[in-house]
Amino acid sequence: MQSAALKKMPDCTPVDMGARHDLLFGRFAAIWQMDRVLVDQKGTAFVRLWVETTRRNIRNLTFRSNMKIEKVFSAADAARNKEFMIVLSPPAEGLPEVPYIEPVIPDAKPQSGDAGLEKHIYRFYFPLSFPLSPAEPSRQKRTMGFVDNEYFYIRGYRDAVMLARIFEHLGHGKDSRILDFGCGAGRIIFPLMELGYANCSGCDIDGDNIAWLQAKPGMADRFHVSGLQPPLPFPDASFDCIYAGSVFTHLDEATQFAFLEDLNRVLAPGGIMAVSVSSWGVLAWIDKTPAFIVHDVENKGINYDSQDLDLTDYGISGEYYRSTFHDHGYIRKTWGRYFDILHIYPYSFGYQDLVILKKKP
Ligand SMILES: C[S@@+](CC[C@H](N)C(=O)[O-])C[C@H]1O[C@@H](n2cnc3c(N)ncnc32)[C@H](O)[C@@H]1O
Repeated sequence: MQSAALKKMPDCTPVDMGARHDLLFGRFAAIWQMDRVLVDQKGTAFVRLWVETTRRNIRNLTFRSNMKIEKVFSAADAARNKEFMIVLSPPAEGLPEVPYIEPVIPDAKPQSGDAGLEKHIYRFYFPLSFPLSPAEPSRQKRTMGFVDNEYFYIRGYRDAVMLARIFEHLGHGKDSRILDFGCGAGRIIFPLMELGYANCSGCDIDGDNIAWLQAKPGMADRFHVSGLQPPLPFPDASFDCIYAGSVFTHLDEATQFAFLEDLNRVLAPGGIMAVSVSSWGVLAWIDKTPAFIVHDVENKGINYDSQDLDLTDYGISGEYYRSTFHDHGYIRKTWGRYFDILHIYPYSFGYQDLVILKKKP
């Protein structure tokens, strides 16, 4: 995902912090992350939420949860990071099936008119237990950019519930046929199946990850190796919902368009697709964002010049696997040829943005 970016760069001048701060200030509000969850035997949960922001003075900050908020400790308070430890206990009516916590910033503007959708997007759903055997380090590294067993699961779980709630809100429930395009090591699809979504399939160009997923009990038919270029190995109209977590963040422009067309083919009428993209949140987060990338994203709406070498050991070179950055205006203009664009939510998939698309009638 994000930290996999920018492995092999041409010589370039990084945007200095001050200039980047000025450039992004208007767009870069506050990016929240949840990376630690501990639940004791009584069901008391300790979660760590932190916010990265260029606005140092977020005031009147409170949290909302379907658990009882016992205490909020404000921990590290660095230039761009503010960290909170929050202690939550089960409410009188017992533990919720899926607990959540969300920051409430009174002066924050809603992102869209669809409050029902937005409420799920900026909410951190968290698991009450963890699987005994997470994906091993090399699989985490090449699909997430780093190794962290707990975060791999917490983020996967949170993304899974968020996507499921988005699909549900848009009319597709637990019996939907769901495709995880670029499923990697199953970070999102496994929590989704645990939550009762029985018709999930995944595909990826990484044959080693697909073989590992297929070898799990009952999983042989659910996972498929797909090609570097379309067509995908599915008949027309096979899926009601598709998501792609940090996949279009790695494609060049022509490949991106080719897959948008083919994903449209495999999506059934009325189908929904959720795709994450690296945009201004990721550009702000990368330590030495090269100036030419920012320039291209501002002026052309896209840059995919840099190679990502995370998959070279698995037969996919940096010539194919790119670090790709998008501007929202470009997405609306070009992706809008393939799908209706319902909304683009900034900073809602880690540092990435989430584009919600619907098959054109
Ligand atoms: C950053 S990883 C994210 C993996 C997973 N979606 C997740 O969120 O954990 C990107 C994944 O996209 C896959 N990928 C890249 N291009 C693809 C393509 N054209 N078709 C299918 N998968 C692709 C890669 O192999 C890799 O597993």
